Amino acid sequence: MSALTLADLAREAERRLDPAVWDFIEGGAGQERTLAGNRAAFDRVWLRPAVLAAAGRPRIDTTILGRRWAAPFAVAPLAYHTLAHSDGELATARAAGAAGVPLVVSTFAGRTFEDIAAAAPGPLWLQVYCFRDRDTTRALVERAERAGFEALVVTADAPHLGRRLRDERNGFTLPPGVRPANLPDGDYASPAGHARAEFDPALDWSIVDWMRSVSRLPVLVKGVLTAGDAERALAAGVDGIVVSNHGGRQLDGAPPTLDVLPEVAAAVAGKVPVLLDGGVRHGADVVAARALGADAVLVGRPVLHGLAADPHRGVALVLEILRDELLDAMALAGLGALDGIGPDAVLTSARPAS
Ligand code: FNR
Repeated sequence: MSALTLADLAREAERRLDPAVWDFIEGGAGQERTLAGNRAAFDRVWLRPAVLAAAGRPRIDTTILGRRWAAPFAVAPLAYHTLAHSDGELATARAAGAAGVPLVVSTFAGRTFEDIAAAAPGPLWLQVYCFRDRDTTRALVERAERAGFEALVVTADAPHLGRRLRDERNGFTLPPGVRPANLPDGDYASPAGHARAEFDPALDWSIVDWMRSVSRLPVLVKGVLTAGDAERALAAGVDGIVVSNHGGRQLDGAPPTLDVLPEVAAAVAGKVPVLLDGGVRHGADVVAARALGADAVLVGRPVLHGLAADPHRGVALVLEILRDELLDAMALAGLGALDGIGPDAVLTSARPAS
């Protein structure tokens, strides 16, 4: 398989995966307006080059929460990498570690935290879904901390799972052999059904204090889309914010993440790192996100595409393509360093008047 872009890997993954599994990975909630909007927002952004800027070879390493990342991107939390290949998170962890970027492991990882940590030469974070049964959540966090995980990402946009119509039409249930490896025995066959029964639908900002009561790790909140929520997150004492609409899988009609990034970044004013996910598919998208206020981005679906397309090389290829495209875009735009990427680096067309 020869892949030059993440789209090439997506095509190969679609060819290889069961159609219902492909739909589960690819789909969004409702009319998939937010899913499409994430991508459309990036497509409205142009890069403004500075020529003859003596930029040299760009430097793309960055430091987030005291840890050096080789590039300003990481792997977003994704349930069940084992849907794409039986090695699942072990293969992803190897590739992310080799690329020098973190992997955010989902509450619904298909492999155990201990095995992922043993496979991973790089930093691991845990994404936390808060269950009604706080003991289950506490056990999950403690287990990840013992395995050496370095940060917690509390997903705040999922009081239950969004209505994924593709999954409803397909009657999607998890294939045999795919289950959450770090949760107690239970009925996980229908992700939406399980979430409705077990997720805590009444979380509030006190969850940040609760996380601190069970762990010493930094706490980030994922799912912030407004300046108001960014301020509430800061007031609650978070260590970082992930601007995310869950890849269009939760509230359909929520705005594209890139469009709300400037307002969130302005509210955060550099006090904590701001990460963004949703629709990042090219190196130029990373430049756009940096220009509009993100410290780094997370990449979701392409990682599962890589894993499905080629279990051995695919995820490494995804991260290499992104890195090489980022280096290429920065060099051609006259950007020698990530710190030099500000609002002047982009031109945004056809944005709604604010
Ligand atoms: C997700 N996402 C997600 N988020 C989370 O907090 N916990 C999870 O377990 C999952 N699981 C998951 C599974 C699959 C198949 C997808 C596609 C997404 C959301 C994910 O972290 C991220 O927000 C989006 O995927 C980012 O958008 P892109 O890069 O996929 O467009």
